[in-house]
Amino acid sequence: MTLITPPVAPPEPGTATHTARDRTATPRHFLMCPPVHFDVVYAINPWMDVTVPVDAGHAVVQWQALKAAYESRGHTVDVISPEPGLPDMVYAANGGVVVGGKALAARFTFPERRPEGVAYEAWLRESGPVRGLVSLGQAAERNEGEGDLLWDGQVMLAGTGFRTTRAAHAEVAERLGVDVLTLELVDPRFYHLDTALAVLSTGGPDGGTRAEIAYFPEAFTPESRATLRERYPDAVEATEADAAVLGLNAVSDGRHVFLTDRATGMHAALRDRGFEPVGIDLSELLKGGGSVKCCTLELRPDPARATAPAAPVVKEARA
Ligand code: ARG
Repeated sequence: MTLITPPVAPPEPGTATHTARDRTATPRHFLMCPPVHFDVVYAINPWMDVTVPVDAGHAVVQWQALKAAYESRGHTVDVISPEPGLPDMVYAANGGVVVGGKALAARFTFPERRPEGVAYEAWLRESGPVRGLVSLGQAAERNEGEGDLLWDGQVMLAGTGFRTTRAAHAEVAERLGVDVLTLELVDPRFYHLDTALAVLSTGGPDGGTRAEIAYFPEAFTPESRATLRERYPDAVEATEADAAVLGLNAVSDGRHVFLTDRATGMHAALRDRGFEPVGIDLSELLKGGGSVKCCTLELRPDPARATAPAAPVVKEARA
């Protein structure tokens, strides 16, 4: 277990967790990119096979269904313009990470995706301020955004092993001012943290409520598995069958969990815990190695600003 300063204490045993009865959805703000230019023309993960044809039109239809599923449950979706020549730009989660109103744009591992970091940085810089976000620019270290950085409400769970580096974890801790918990991935099929772990409910800022997660233990080193077991003793442990259809690449609003319709075991496990699984068919986007979460970047506002009373109106005194 690697803890980046300041150290993160596991929750006290007996800390309250959610029960099946109090699942409450909270409205979220997402950024998505339509897969207009989606294709598989290079292979940077084991899911990608350049010989398998891709139907971008079909990908767009499936993507629209995901967007509609969010909107019909009260979530706000912003859309970034897709750029020609960037076939993976649909995987918006990789564009950056936004917590507490601070937005850090990605710096990609592979040259094919590097211009995406610039495009997301430009969106966050230009559109962020009207949404209450402060843009911190692009990460200096190799950082694939929410692909590897998952906020549990108290701690940033940070994946490494394939893409995002440990140096990037330290940068995230410093620039976003959050505690970071490093987790090491070992299976190339699960090359981003968000393919192996999903945050189902976030913990309260005071530590009173514990976050809940689901994960596939075999995707992690024995050390990281022990870390996860200690911090999340009640986690949903996904089966290989569910993980292998990217069933952990999920988005939760605290009640609804949006995930591939193929992960039937996950659907059952979620229902058992009082969540409402929302099955989405993203078969075209699976060809690029992504599913629901990959297509979704969450824009988390500064809670202080969100709840602050409106500034008093000061009238100009006239002479
Ligand atoms: N083809 C993309 C890549 O390999 C897929 C990214 C999926 N995104 C994610 N958040 N896991 O980089």
